[in-house]
Amino acid sequence: MKRLRKPRRPVMAVVLVAVLAGNGPIVSQFVSGQVHQYEINQPSYKAQYGHWQTIELPSALRVNAVHTALLQTGKLLIIAGSGNDQQNFEAGTFKTLLWDPVTGTGRLIPTPSDMFCGGHAFLPDGRLLVAGGTARYEQLPNKVTNAGGPMQIVNDSTASSHAFPQGTVFVADNGQFYRSDIAVTAPPARSVRGPRGRLTTVPGRTEVWVDAVNGGRAGLAYGGAPYHIAGLGGRDFENIHAVGRAMSLAKEDFQGTNAAYIFDPYSERYEFVPPMPHKRWYPSLATLADGNLLAVSGLDGVGQIVPGETDLFNIKTLSWSPGPFHYFPTYPALFLTTSGRLFFTGSSTGYGPATKGREPGLWDVQSNTFQPVTGLPDPAEAETSASVLLPPAQAQRWMLLGGGGVGESPLATARTAIADLSSPNPTYTAGPNLALPTRYPESVILPDDTVLVSGGAGDYRGKHGSDNHVARIYHPETNTFTQAAAPEIGRDYHSEAVLLPDGRVATLGSNPLYGDAEDSGPGFFEQRIEIYSPPYLFHGPRPQITGGPQAVALGASADFTTSNPSDIVKVRLIHPSAATHVTDLQQRSIALTFTRTANGVQVTIPPQQTLVPLGWYMLFVDNAKGVPSVARWVQVTH
Ligand code: CU
Repeated sequence: MKRLRKPRRPVMAVVLVAVLAGNGPIVSQFVSGQVHQYEINQPSYKAQYGHWQTIELPSALRVNAVHTALLQTGKLLIIAGSGNDQQNFEAGTFKTLLWDPVTGTGRLIPTPSDMFCGGHAFLPDGRLLVAGGTARYEQLPNKVTNAGGPMQIVNDSTASSHAFPQGTVFVADNGQFYRSDIAVTAPPARSVRGPRGRLTTVPGRTEVWVDAVNGGRAGLAYGGAPYHIAGLGGRDFENIHAVGRAMSLAKEDFQGTNAAYIFDPYSERYEFVPPMPHKRWYPSLATLADGNLLAVSGLDGVGQIVPGETDLFNIKTLSWSPGPFHYFPTYPALFLTTSGRLFFTGSSTGYGPATKGREPGLWDVQSNTFQPVTGLPDPAEAETSASVLLPPAQAQRWMLLGGGGVGESPLATARTAIADLSSPNPTYTAGPNLALPTRYPESVILPDDTVLVSGGAGDYRGKHGSDNHVARIYHPETNTFTQAAAPEIGRDYHSEAVLLPDGRVATLGSNPLYGDAEDSGPGFFEQRIEIYSPPYLFHGPRPQITGGPQAVALGASADFTTSNPSDIVKVRLIHPSAATHVTDLQQRSIALTFTRTANGVQVTIPPQQTLVPLGWYMLFVDNAKGVPSVARWVQVTH
């Protein structure tokens, strides 16, 4: 065996020795590994299939990449928060890494609260709103020692709100004591004029999780029981009461926060903004036709799925107000369409019953009406699927890829489907299958109007060693997949992929449930980054954008100087990704019409904000061989 370690001519020598020695699977595995390495590094292979490169960060910079967004500084904002690690959560250790994929350098950013499993969306100035996150970790049944449940506090006083500190004691009629896990405030009651003009009082309500002080079955209680709140006196005693839901020893789900922050790419700091009206864990932040953002779904402060309340974020005043009431499962894929409506593709990740709110459709948030989009094949396997607005965005065609059964189901599908929303009564039609059944497929729009689809897993959170080490490139023009080089690193739950300004794709994260194919031990969070260079980066010289304005208004034209203008056949405006949990509502590629000038191109930005949401974009030019330039950052303004 020793002779094999340092062959002078790696491939031929190893093959020869292996054939002569003929000693079993270890050698043949080693040989096939060597042959594979040789093959994937050939220029012809890279030109056909592209190439993957693994990056190990220095240990001080390794974080659990749960959220990844590309900022207009070219840096990746990689948010771990507590990183799905309860010890980090209890220690208050919350991490964010700001990493430059060009220089390979980075630094950790002070992270004020646990943004793990929050939502995010860009503002038109390029800052990133991050809202929601983790207030408390889930407790599996074997860890639940004391009964617990949601406690509703009802305030009948229109005069004042009432704050309840963490540890507030609630006493049941049978004398059992319960303590609240966080501080909450019950809002005052409101006087509302009814349909016949009569004033009625609507009590102020809030909910908080409580745990029984006594362990075991002593603290079990039915839902709907009244509780006394310790320490309430006088008027408060008359006006405020509590009603418990069931107190049980069952699994306790994660609980959400209403914390909201804006990350500024220039100061490289989180800034406080007012909290959301509702607490959310696994929300989506959807961009609306007017540029405002809508926080939708998630688990609330007591671990229950939000029944339908949405929170509207005004991007000018940086404040929240109530949005339309509509129920969706957690992390719903909600995309802005040119009609101004939001398209719920059917993709979601995480929580919610199988039978409620999973039908795809067009949601008009103004009238709060919903037009179903039917025809999705394998509709019961849309959880953990990906959704992409196929390039170019003008075609208004969305693809839904892969997915699996609701919750910890073993089902996964290779199905893709396409909805053409340019039709007045759109329906889904089947697309070509993925290489394998795939939950959590990573899907990234490339500047040549194709989509990279990589990674994912064949089972829930990569169970049974089911990570898919495959990649394909989807070609919308021909509705086909072609093979791409295989990634080395598996990516399942809590993983992301984003297009970089240089035309490469960064893949990060992965949080398998188990550490091996036998599911015999706990999994570890993947902290290596792997970067894919698509075939176009091996097809000769790249066109260049050498100059141009930093901002262009909707509907306006602008001149950019380029290398040889006669080479340029396509101009694309690509919005940077903000990805988490197979959900990237931000990436979109808009085709720009252009004319060649003496020293570049004159491009025109489409006038519709519903097609081109305001914000920072990557401007790419492509040559006739499909080779894109490095992007130039351009802000699209009013
Ligand atoms: Cu999560």
